Amino acid sequence: MGLEKIYIICGVSGSGKTTIGKRLAELFNIPFYDADDFHPKTNIKKMSEGYPLNDEDRTPWLHKLAEEIKKWNSDRGAVLACSALKQKYRQVLQSIDAEYINWIFLDGNYDLISKRIQARENHFFKKELLTSQFNTLEKPEQGVIIDIDKSVEEIIHEIELKLKTQVSQLGLIGLGVMGKGLSKNILSKGFRLSVYNRQVEKKEVDIAKKFVTEQESQKVLGFDQLQPFVISIKRPRSILLMVNAGKSVDMVIEGLIPFLEKGDCLIDGGNSHFKDTIRRERLLSEIGIHFIGAGISGGEDGALRGPSIMPGGSEKGYELCGNFLETIAARDKNGNPCCSYIGIEGSGHYIKMVHNGIEYAEMQGIAELYHLLRFYVKKNPEQIADIFDSWRKKGKDSYLLEITADILRKKEEDGFLIDKILDKAGQKGTGGWSTEAALEIGMPLSTISESVMARNLSGIKSQRVKASEVYQLESSEILEDESMFLKDLEKAFLAASILNHHIGFELIKQASKEYNWDLNLSEIARVWTNGCIIRSDLMEHISALFKENNDTSLIMFPEFITIMKSNIDSLSKIVSIGLTSGCSLPVMSTAVNYFLTYTSAQSSANIIQAQRDYFGAHTYQRVDALLTEYFHTNWKD
Ligand code: 6PG
Repeated sequence: MGLEKIYIICGVSGSGKTTIGKRLAELFNIPFYDADDFHPKTNIKKMSEGYPLNDEDRTPWLHKLAEEIKKWNSDRGAVLACSALKQKYRQVLQSIDAEYINWIFLDGNYDLISKRIQARENHFFKKELLTSQFNTLEKPEQGVIIDIDKSVEEIIHEIELKLKTQVSQLGLIGLGVMGKGLSKNILSKGFRLSVYNRQVEKKEVDIAKKFVTEQESQKVLGFDQLQPFVISIKRPRSILLMVNAGKSVDMVIEGLIPFLEKGDCLIDGGNSHFKDTIRRERLLSEIGIHFIGAGISGGEDGALRGPSIMPGGSEKGYELCGNFLETIAARDKNGNPCCSYIGIEGSGHYIKMVHNGIEYAEMQGIAELYHLLRFYVKKNPEQIADIFDSWRKKGKDSYLLEITADILRKKEEDGFLIDKILDKAGQKGTGGWSTEAALEIGMPLSTISESVMARNLSGIKSQRVKASEVYQLESSEILEDESMFLKDLEKAFLAASILNHHIGFELIKQASKEYNWDLNLSEIARVWTNGCIIRSDLMEHISALFKENNDTSLIMFPEFITIMKSNIDSLSKIVSIGLTSGCSLPVMSTAVNYFLTYTSAQSSANIIQAQRDYFGAHTYQRVDALLTEYFHTNWKD
């Protein structure tokens, strides 16, 4: 038996709807109904006199049936035998709340069916009407389609089999690295899945079909056409888009719209910009389609084993697809899914964007420590990996530290692979988007923005090479006491990490206020405790702290005040040693500067205000007057 409660057996008269329907009803232990019994008398009379019914005759009958279906669906379910020859008739039948109708189409050719009708007795249908039925028939493409040229037993068996295997619970578009990983993950959780990948000559050929043949599961269907793909998915549909952020998402949505129905839900699992998500959600809601912008983190491995998922947007849409997303997500330490409805509009993608901002800063911080250890302390990559691993064992574990240690141990025949990798960082943009988003609401995003700039600076490699030849800067020896230095380095790493996270969460907090998103910081941190790129021991602490108080700034929690007080000197020391030795530490030094400014009651900004007023009469506020008052000075007098 399929998952849902309503089965409609359709096909032309004489195709065996009643016989098959009754047998199925018995099998599923639910009532059987014949749609003919719901015809108004006028229709029966017309048919028995040999006149075909027209659309006008059928409309009240179909609506009546739709009402009945609604009742049956809220009761035990039912099997209904109904010709439902045209797509628009089927649409009326399924225009009710019934979550889903199992369509079973009995498919036979004219000769076979006319022979069967001639053999029949006591039926008001005249065989001459068969031609008209075949003329009217628009064969359905959805549901279970059965060739009826076989015994009733065989037909029943085939229906049972197809019901079990042919209706997908979820659709996925885009079989790139993440799409494939997520598809395998979805299948491993027992869901029936339809996958779609476009056809691009010589580049993307039969990707979906190949994917299907590679899977052991019988529960996956592959398509390179959107219509049959959409049709193969249980209604209301949940379709996960795993296509490149940007125009591709809009193009796929446009292509899908003609085949979608009200109540369907699209989930964009790519790294889309939150403003695009807001726009798309508005657009789709106008035509009754739910849209979820879901940040998904964890890379290839996470997609396969369980990513961290940050869905935002239509709440009704989440009611529909939340179960899938939560089932495929990573688990936190208590076994709960690392997936939680983040909030309305583009909040899910906003959170993923900030995740990536923190990711950029953490990556850059680790890279800076590596660089310092490698070229100024003269450690080899394996020794540095040992140092990082030793921190990991002391409650400072993080996925990024773990993979960096792995990377540093990786050798090729003639040396370490890391030495062969060009020092030019790529980026797809999410770090920069965080910076723009922070600027938009006036927030300091110091370490994160600096990590974006560090990538940009790395990108101008040829200029750097030229400048290094011109300047020939000497690097000085920095080590007097190695063991002390390493202790400071470890403390500096933690302090900078706390500051990166503090800065990221401050942005989230402010965005929540600006956009009225009512975000739950503890829940966001919890979703980030596993599956994602910035999962770490630190994230566990952060989630617990925000649970106590959602409004406190991270470095104002007593636990972090203690750590920062004891570690900030080490961070300053490492930065100062590094800089004076000729090693650039953009994120680490920005972290110190941020902290020193953040913890200063008196900043240097009074000079900025005076300068602004001097050259532009921009006015200033005074410490000895009300803050509502603004002053201007004629500075040259
Ligand atoms: C993740 C990653 C993932 C991807 C980024 C990297 O959370 O799984 O953030 O989304 O690796 O797109 O982006 P850059 O190319 O900008 O580093």
